[in-house]
Amino acid sequence: MLRALLKQALNVTPVTTAANHSDSRMKRIAILTAGGDTPALNASIYGAVVRANQLKIEVFGLIKGFNSLFNPRVPHVHLNPLFCSIPELDPTKGGTILGGSRDYVDPNDKQQLEQIFGYLRRLGIEGLICIGGDGTLNGLQPLCARLPTVLCPKTIDNDLGLNYSCEVDEHERTPCSDPPGYKYCKNPPRVVMDPEQMINYATPGYATAVYVSAGGVERIRTTAESHRRIAIVEVMGRHSGFIALGSTYGQPDLVLIPEAPVNMELVIERVKEIYDIQKNVVIVCGEGIVDSTGAPLGAARRSTDPAGNLQLTGASESLRDQLIDALGDDYFRNSRRGQGASEVVFTRKIGHTQRGGRPIAFDRFYGAQLGGKAVDMLFEGQNDAVAILQYNNEQGFYVDSIGGNAFRDRWGHIHARAVHPAFYDAEHMRPSPMGIEYLLPIFTDAIGRDDVEHIRETLFDSGNLFRPYHSVNTDINKRIRFLSDE
Ligand code: F6P
Repeated sequence: MLRALLKQALNVTPVTTAANHSDSRMKRIAILTAGGDTPALNASIYGAVVRANQLKIEVFGLIKGFNSLFNPRVPHVHLNPLFCSIPELDPTKGGTILGGSRDYVDPNDKQQLEQIFGYLRRLGIEGLICIGGDGTLNGLQPLCARLPTVLCPKTIDNDLGLNYSCEVDEHERTPCSDPPGYKYCKNPPRVVMDPEQMINYATPGYATAVYVSAGGVERIRTTAESHRRIAIVEVMGRHSGFIALGSTYGQPDLVLIPEAPVNMELVIERVKEIYDIQKNVVIVCGEGIVDSTGAPLGAARRSTDPAGNLQLTGASESLRDQLIDALGDDYFRNSRRGQGASEVVFTRKIGHTQRGGRPIAFDRFYGAQLGGKAVDMLFEGQNDAVAILQYNNEQGFYVDSIGGNAFRDRWGHIHARAVHPAFYDAEHMRPSPMGIEYLLPIFTDAIGRDDVEHIRETLFDSGNLFRPYHSVNTDINKRIRFLSDE
């Protein structure tokens, strides 16, 4: 049923271009998934394959993102033999059947680039779709010089986008020595925020991450209520607070986002006020929250992932330590039968559960549409371009495309989109009216009836108790082919 609906959604009139009628039309493209996974990746791959089937284009899936192209054997899977998608490609399954990695092409390594173009030529690849976020948009640029390459967006962080089109011009950079390179800072916004002007209103993966996070917050609440506790729930998102903002659906008392430095005195004052009345407090914090000097509260482990991103950790723990110090044991002794602050204040990370599992309807539907759009973009001859999901009141959500340079500042750098100050009420530590206005179109109908039915049908399926988990990787492994086999 869902597959039929997605097919219907993608069943747009074939684009008629000169390429369509000549022998030089595109015959084979490749697709890869790069960066951290999201629950909507298979939906985007599926959308791309369905559209390619309509256009009679072969799709080769590259295994483990750009990593496939560093391997002389270029492991890959033919995703649509005879223009039918392989059965393992299920848009309702989270993760990516192609595997992902945070490896990116080094634009300065000319030899490696030559090798990559050689591999792709031998495979007969005429265009490439990279499903990824800002790191991937950076990573695909060196390929665009010789191969039409487009980005199909994904990221649970919802940070691939612009709050308005001239936002990239608001960045300044200064050289710095530790680490060597440049430090970027953003001037205050010059444009009055209007959510309908956003470029890439929401990225596939975000809605499901919020669904999981808000559900986690909601569940923590009742146990915090029962045991008179203060819960700090840490959500992902790096330096962008969109997931934290969306977690407001779980009705936390306070929401702290990385874009607004934490005012500790205000947090303590509010926590006391709330605890005095209801004897429990739930705080959501983004993993990248910063103190009044701009220093990350967490990041105790100052290490970076292969893409050079700082691995953020410890924000909620640091917040807990500060709350324990400030509130002290005496504050709790009367209401807690002798228990002290360290027993009352606890932290929980939603962690990778917000990145996994079945995508909710919003992500499946628009993830698939964006995948289909990316194929159309290649077919129309676009290069270094991004498929985007736009929203306005009149049309609702619709897919479009934009040149990759729209996201690059004058030095070519791509910045993660931050939550605009107009979306957040820093005094009350919750979304502002405009922040709420932003969230509503995404989430009001984000969960499909089939999502609810799916829980009913599958979670307590008695077969789960004795049937071992069957990983799709085992089936995909049997389909992997290598350049030498071609
Ligand atoms: O960018 C997606 C994301 O999930 C971030 O929100 C988070 O900081 C990071 O990836 C975690 O990465 P990893 O799975 O490599 O620890």
